[in-house]
Amino acid sequence: RRIAAIVPAAGMGTRLGGALPKAYVSLGGRPLLSWAVEGLRNSGVVDSIIVLGAPDRLQQAREIVGSDVLVLAGGVERSDSVKAGLDAVGDVDYVLVHDAARALTPPSMIRRIADALFSGADAVIPVLPVVDTIKTVDSDGCVTGTPVRATLRAVQTPQGFRAELLRAAHDAAIQSGADVTDDAMLVEKVGATVRTVDGHSHAFKVTTPLDLTLAEALVASQPT
Ligand code: CTP
Ligand code: MG
Repeated sequence: RRIAAIVPAAGMGTRLGGALPKAYVSLGGRPLLSWAVEGLRNSGVVDSIIVLGAPDRLQQAREIVGSDVLVLAGGVERSDSVKAGLDAVGDVDYVLVHDAARALTPPSMIRRIADALFSGADAVIPVLPVVDTIKTVDSDGCVTGTPVRATLRAVQTPQGFRAELLRAAHDAAIQSGADVTDDAMLVEKVGATVRTVDGHSHAFKVTTPLDLTLAEALVASQPT
């Protein structure tokens, strides 16, 4: 029952708009990447961690995460970074894929993912109910539909998989031109069942400056 965590951290952070790539941006005095890796460590269920960093900042990433974490270069898209991690992960039973940008993910939520895998799930993702009404729109911005909100979930990370299944799913994902926004969608495409467990409000992805403001407030209000 070995679990490896793959941490994609090679994005530019365009929407955050900072001077640094997002994983290297400071939250309460240390980089987002440091928080994310600490959460994985504190879960107590992760045997090894691989970080995919910005190719021109690998040494910096190594200093942030410490010598027990393997740091490799990420790719152009998030799915390329995950693939690079999968290629390096070695002989493990399960893989957790966890965004560096979800810095404040509680260790207890990470354990929920591991527990579901240990109970036999092939794939498991943390989700929350959607609070807004969601519309689909066409290229002119005109509404084409309104999915029933009660059937929708917002998806977080870490997402957990049997390692073999995630490998097969990434291998099957030939350049379709589709925007691969998470790993579960690749696993869905190969026909596997993806289970859900409760996510956590603190596992939000730091994406915009407002998210960073919220994260700073959380860190200030509950010193960890
Ligand atoms: N990521 C990655 N490799 C990429 C793109 C993204 O490893 N080529 C990582 C990011 O570092 C982040 C996670 O995937 O931890 C989720 O991506 P996102 O929130 O989109 O981060 P960025 O791509 O950095 O942000 P933006 O899209 O605003 O540029
Ligand atoms: Mg991105």
